[in-house]
Amino acid sequence: MAAKWHREGQAKFQIGQAFYNSQHKFVRDLGVLAAIAEKQDRGSLRVLDALSGCGVRSLRYWHESNADYLWINEGNPEHSSLLQQNLAQAIAPEHCQITHQDAHRVFFSCYARRDYYDLVDVDCFGSAVPYLSSMLWATKIGGLMYLTSTDGRTLTGHLPENSILAYSAIARSHPAAQEQALRLLIGATQQQAATKGLGIEPIFSLFTGQTYRLMLRLVSKPRLTLNNYGFLAYCHSCGNYQTFSWRKLNNISCTCKDPAITVSGAMWLGRLHDPQRIERLIVLADQRGWQKIVKLLTSMKHEIDLPPYFYTLQEIGRRGKLDLPKRSHLIAALQKQGYQAAATHIDPQGIKTNASLESCIAIAKNI
Ligand SMILES: C[S@@+](CC[C@H](N)C(=O)[O-])C[C@H]1O[C@@H](n2cnc3c(N)ncnc32)[C@H](O)[C@@H]1O
Ligand SMILES: [Zn+2]
Repeated sequence: MAAKWHREGQAKFQIGQAFYNSQHKFVRDLGVLAAIAEKQDRGSLRVLDALSGCGVRSLRYWHESNADYLWINEGNPEHSSLLQQNLAQAIAPEHCQITHQDAHRVFFSCYARRDYYDLVDVDCFGSAVPYLSSMLWATKIGGLMYLTSTDGRTLTGHLPENSILAYSAIARSHPAAQEQALRLLIGATQQQAATKGLGIEPIFSLFTGQTYRLMLRLVSKPRLTLNNYGFLAYCHSCGNYQTFSWRKLNNISCTCKDPAITVSGAMWLGRLHDPQRIERLIVLADQRGWQKIVKLLTSMKHEIDLPPYFYTLQEIGRRGKLDLPKRSHLIAALQKQGYQAAATHIDPQGIKTNASLESCIAIAKNI
């Protein structure tokens, strides 16, 4: 029986025994858009697809982002003929190389040859921790890294001992723990970059419901400051969050009757997304008629300048002993009262706002 050819975007490929999840097309769409913007700005684009699976990302960067050169690496040599077959028909040999090495070896060989890439794609399984440092060695200063992490249990506070070992940071559990996961990952990457005198700017930070995806730019100066790197305190008693810099750790307290505070961090407390880049990606997605992506990016745009946590409707309903209001109604009511408020892409029931939880409950009661 002839092997089945699949299509995604402009890529045509076979899957064979490689890992491929068609549900995550939108994650690859976002990568393609970010790469298009890079190519437009730089005039050329060299991509290192370090954990390529069947090569779908490379094919899409080639066809849709107009990449000039691709290094396609897949650690498992059993996927060699699959990759050859998928890529040979699409990309001329002078525009790509295919290897089967450990991704870390690839990164360090880039460094050894001073051969840095504009986009380094690190689509790993499980924890991204081993790559947070090594991927920096292959990335051009000013270039992008597209990182996956599926280490949700550790980052959301379900394995606090692991979090100390892996991230040198405390991760506790609370209703906004998936946002914390993105922030711990960014913070840990910032810290690795800072050891090299470099910094990170998040382009976008995405939680898909199961996995965490970060598009990060490597920049020439450390970005960590007292304002954007610190601790998140959550009071289990009243449900409020507060942020603290390391200088103020001795001030952690809560004004409620019976405080029960847990602290997570240090983590990134700055912006999850770059406002100008998000605008640009919205235009590019709209030009392609990718309305689902436009909607996602627009939601990201609205959450950019809000506090680094969110409240869930369930929490508001449970604590206020009220029927759950519609999220859009509560956001509109908060805004009418002069608060900043927006939906978060992270949780379909989550609201980001500078109002306290008590204010959210009081306003929800009047809807
Ligand atoms: C999540 S899959 C990649 C999926 C692909 N990027 C996509 O979008 O469909 C991760 C791939 O990395 C490979 N891999 C795992 N560890 C690796 C390592 N240390 N170095 C290189 N490749 C590795 C696995 O064999 C697997 O094919
Ligand atoms: Zn409290």
